[in-house]
Amino acid sequence: MGKRIRILAMGGTIAGSAADSAATTGYQAGAVGVAELLAAVPQVRAVAEVSGEQLATIDSKDITAAVQLQMVRRVRELLLAADVDGIVITHGTDTLEESAYLLDLVHFADKPVVITGAMRPSTALSADGPLNLLDAVRVAADDKARDRGVLVVLNNAIHSAQAVTKLATMAVETFQSPNGGAIGAVNDGEVVFYHNSQLHHLPQALSISEKLTSQQELPYVPILYGHSDDDGRLVKVTVDQGGKGIVYAGMGNGSIPAQAEAELAAAVKQGVLVIRASSSALGMVAKAEESYEQAGFVASGCLNPRKARLLLQVALSVGASAAAVKNWLKI
Ligand code: SIN
Repeated sequence: MGKRIRILAMGGTIAGSAADSAATTGYQAGAVGVAELLAAVPQVRAVAEVSGEQLATIDSKDITAAVQLQMVRRVRELLLAADVDGIVITHGTDTLEESAYLLDLVHFADKPVVITGAMRPSTALSADGPLNLLDAVRVAADDKARDRGVLVVLNNAIHSAQAVTKLATMAVETFQSPNGGAIGAVNDGEVVFYHNSQLHHLPQALSISEKLTSQQELPYVPILYGHSDDDGRLVKVTVDQGGKGIVYAGMGNGSIPAQAEAELAAAVKQGVLVIRASSSALGMVAKAEESYEQAGFVASGCLNPRKARLLLQVALSVGASAAAVKNWLKI
């Protein structure tokens, strides 16, 4: 019996449709259903027993916490299902790294979960979706992919959810892992791993994922983008609006202009959790000014601001402290 792989379709450009086959922008994302996606790649049937279900039909920039939680719920059910060996999610690329990271945080089994997408709509000349989908199924069906958390497969490369980011606006090779590179590849159908993934699921992933399944939303956590002459007024607005968490995307090693730092320190005193991340694409955010430590800001480590935001949302959902968040970031 072949591996039983469930495809969850979320929409995105991989399911996009344009009137003109030469068009790679200005198309409708999410227009093509999962049955049609699979029909376009009959080769997947030679790799595994695949079945599909449509979870959403959205342009992923419009994904909400409610939809993210629906995805967490469904993946949790499939991780626990004895008749499913692996999961592939087709997703828009704009927030693909966020969904991958959220699912990785609460991934509690050794079953492969692979997310893929495409940069060109399904109707395009030289569409990249069909091969990406085939490669994603190949990875999900491969025993070497077990116990590696959530994997992102596009453009023949395999990335870990924690490290990958969409680096280029339109190129098909947009997904890169700036700190350390891809962890593997699919070379003409052969799945190869060069490195072990950084496993980032939480020790309490099973119970946290269960808690999240009963929620319809996640706490509001904005990302405030640091810039010259930031007087910190958006920090104040966030606190006044009842925000309980802030990710500050600072400069370089998470540096924060003095006035914004003072507002953030005041916010921490009022019980707000603050993560100090960076707007730089490469490198990590580590210990810097002593005043940041004293204020109680948590450094984001290797997480980019969007992933740090999800970590904070999950932390706030389960009532985790700043100390617990620090530990989660060490995982
Ligand atoms: C989306 O993120 O849904 C649209 C863009 C894409 O998938 O490349």
